[in-house]
Amino acid sequence: MKYSLQLNANELEQTQLVVSAVYCKTTAARGKAKEKKEPVLTHWSKEWKDAFDAFKASEEFTGETGSQLTMTLPSGSALMVVGLGEKSSATFETIRRQFAEVYKSAASRYKDMTVDMDGLILKNNPEVSLQAVVEGIELAAYRFDTHLSQKTTDKLNKVILASAKTTKAKGKTWQEALNSALSITESITITRNFINEAPNVLHSENYAKLLEKDAKSLPRVKTKVLNKAEIKKEKMGLLLSVNNGSAYEPRVTHFTYTPKKMTSKTKHIVLVGKGITFDTGGYSLKPSASMMNMKFDMGGSATMYGAFRAAALLGADVKITCILGITDNAINSLATMPDSVVKARNGKTVEILNTDAEGRLVLADCLDYACDLKPDAIIDAATLTGACLVAVGHEVCAVMGNEKKLIDSLLKSAEATEERMWQLPIFDEYREDIKSPMADLKNIGSKPYAGSSKAGAFLEAFIKNDVNWAHLDIAGIATGQGHIPYCPAKGASGLIVRSVTDYLMGLK
Ligand code: BES
Ligand code: MN
Ligand code: ZN
Repeated sequence: MKYSLQLNANELEQTQLVVSAVYCKTTAARGKAKEKKEPVLTHWSKEWKDAFDAFKASEEFTGETGSQLTMTLPSGSALMVVGLGEKSSATFETIRRQFAEVYKSAASRYKDMTVDMDGLILKNNPEVSLQAVVEGIELAAYRFDTHLSQKTTDKLNKVILASAKTTKAKGKTWQEALNSALSITESITITRNFINEAPNVLHSENYAKLLEKDAKSLPRVKTKVLNKAEIKKEKMGLLLSVNNGSAYEPRVTHFTYTPKKMTSKTKHIVLVGKGITFDTGGYSLKPSASMMNMKFDMGGSATMYGAFRAAALLGADVKITCILGITDNAINSLATMPDSVVKARNGKTVEILNTDAEGRLVLADCLDYACDLKPDAIIDAATLTGACLVAVGHEVCAVMGNEKKLIDSLLKSAEATEERMWQLPIFDEYREDIKSPMADLKNIGSKPYAGSSKAGAFLEAFIKNDVNWAHLDIAGIATGQGHIPYCPAKGASGLIVRSVTDYLMGLK
């Protein structure tokens, strides 16, 4: 989509479609008069008001969330009026979702549209309001059509963001806000594309190559990718054991973003991601129905890469390292057998009772590697446990960790970006349950309860040097969020990229 800004605009009707999103006002019942809901149209021109009043169906239009009305203006442009509900209860997510709906109803009908920014600005914050508009449109416009021989393109390809008032942007200028929004949506698109790509195309070697190619295009980013020999040198025994059954070499990415101003006080955050390009379960083979869609098992790595990428483009003030552990979990004659005991990078031994609990093995070695960098915090993301869907549902990201402040900051960022995140505990009982009589740890608990927390307890055992650490289990939320208008009905959601980006951008 091509975007342009028109400030001090006095002519909004140059495009086929004009969109005006309006709030709703409720007048309380008084005497005989019933409670009444009406759209707030105070910023409209007399011409628009007259056309609206003359349009018969306009009596029904209240401005409540989700209501939509399209009419023709005397100029010949269509005017789409979109309800955002009461201003006091609307949030930026309301704008994001309603503009996703606008995109869906306009995409095949009009070639260009003007968004009237006046009237929709929320919390006196033009930048974030504009960002929500752009995010709603861009994320809704996404489709994964790489492998379709007949591609269809939407008609709508040009959006003008217009303001007749001289609403001054506060911190950023409108242009900067637009650029930021596009950096974020473009990064989410890349995350979604990686997640949706087929496993025969996106095997470990290819995935790492594509990641590095993209990372090299980012400002102030240095890239390194560890190959199998280097991973062996690092003694990442757990990661290598998952890779044993693979036709492809494993990879570990080590990308570093350095901010413009680096002082001794500059924080350093490491993002770690699970990059299982396909999870068959290994010898603890998944039944076919559960194996389907396991190409999404690299979702943690793609999500962390998306956040890393966005933060680099937005010029974060912190140093960020991106460590992604990449392999598939497949079977051949060399594949790790259940009951095997394997030594981790940190020297601990792990009894691998279930080869399908592979994500924690890959992450364990990556977390130990990350701790050696002595960062201020490590955050990992992974499609780690089916139990996460049982615990919090498929719409929610579970967060756990070893430091309350870090967890709270992530929850706060999730709240700010209006993505669903909830904390799960790591109790001593769970730590006990992953001890093995014949090795330091076993990779599954004895009972199949609190599976997400026990996986968390397992990861925690690989955190050293007192590093603050948080773990995001995105097993549910990474895909299939069709109940959200800006997420595709099927496939990658791209959710949680915005939360992690917000967290990184909030640090000094
Ligand atoms: N990749 C899966 C987790 C998963 C399951 C993600 C369903 C998304 C949807 C993970 O590697 C796995 O297989 N976990 C096992 C752990 C068990 C063996 C302790 C699981 O959840 O069944
Ligand atoms: Mn698995
Ligand atoms: Zn997995």
